[in-house]
Amino acid sequence: YDFARALADAVSGSKLETGAIKALLMANPEQTKSLYSAADRTRQTGVGDEVHLRAIIEFSNYCRKNCLYCGLRRDNKSIARYRLSLDEILTTATEAVALGFRTVVLQSGEDLYYTPEDIARLVYSIKNKHDVAITLSLGEHRRENYRLWREAGADRYLLKHETANPELFRFLKPDTTFETRLRCLHWLKELDYQTGSGNMVGLPGQDLDTLARDVALLRDLDVEMAGVGPFLPHYATPLKDAAAGDPELTLKTLAVTRLCLPGAHLPATTALCTLATDGRKLALNAGANVIMPNLTPLDVRRQYQIYPQKSDMTEKPLETLTSIKKLLAGLARPLATSHGHAPKFTGGM
Ligand code: 5AD
Ligand code: SF4
Repeated sequence: YDFARALADAVSGSKLETGAIKALLMANPEQTKSLYSAADRTRQTGVGDEVHLRAIIEFSNYCRKNCLYCGLRRDNKSIARYRLSLDEILTTATEAVALGFRTVVLQSGEDLYYTPEDIARLVYSIKNKHDVAITLSLGEHRRENYRLWREAGADRYLLKHETANPELFRFLKPDTTFETRLRCLHWLKELDYQTGSGNMVGLPGQDLDTLARDVALLRDLDVEMAGVGPFLPHYATPLKDAAAGDPELTLKTLAVTRLCLPGAHLPATTALCTLATDGRKLALNAGANVIMPNLTPLDVRRQYQIYPQKSDMTEKPLETLTSIKKLLAGLARPLATSHGHAPKFTGGM
């Protein structure tokens, strides 16, 4: 596959084969510029210039799983574990709404301390009190739980597939299988959630063919959201000595994902900002249209260490907002004021 031909096909909206996706991912520095500007134009026609903010609340860092790459894995005894009470989560959500956020993302490790009914009541209370969209990011659960939470008012669900290589998936996530992951994603779609997935770039053992399959999978699932971030080695995991993902390859993957999913919401991921100080800006110019500021209460935020040196460990919500507004003004990108539902869930943009 030839880069120029693959790019022309992508821009015209043709469904790309994984070989063509791979050719785009292999862009040389000169070609990379045209890849990013094509992704930027597709972003503009697909979802417009507005940037959507999603307030993320990491309410528990307990996890029953033992993923090899993640600092929250159950075998990591070196972090202090915390859980916010349902009241504390509600208060934090209220704070986010007061700051102007129209989406709250509730994220945690896979923590069975909260019952399915607890989560449902929490979702219901937030929706009852505020005009806000709710995204859940709670990992793999039974279909009936997903249904209960949807009925309680949850709008969206994030469940990254992490890697489209089933063997690599099995190695990195010994508690589950790729098949289980895909089944969960299909349930979420059936239950009419706006569904998000995504993957890490630069995982040990990942090659460009796998990465091309990651992008093809996101396209084939027709996800409403996709998070693409670099792998970052965490010192208290079995992958501590592995190399970090390459920021440039991460940006290319983001750009190709945009070309394949013109209408999706794609965040400038925190992991990318951790690797590159101007990561947010670079991502917003290569296809991204979402920023997910961290609103986790500052006294526990450090303990939610999925990967080290997360870039948002100490910033107060208001400071974060101020710096985002400055960045967006510089890029001539307006801050969205709507809930930022996926275009196909609102009947247009
Ligand atoms: N490096 C980068 N991203 C990671 N995640 C988890 N561990 C790491 C890591 N070491 C990402 C996964 C997960 C999300 C919550 O964080 O993609 O879905
Ligand atoms: Fe738990 Fe998710 Fe981390 Fe895996 S990636 S250990 S499921 S928090």
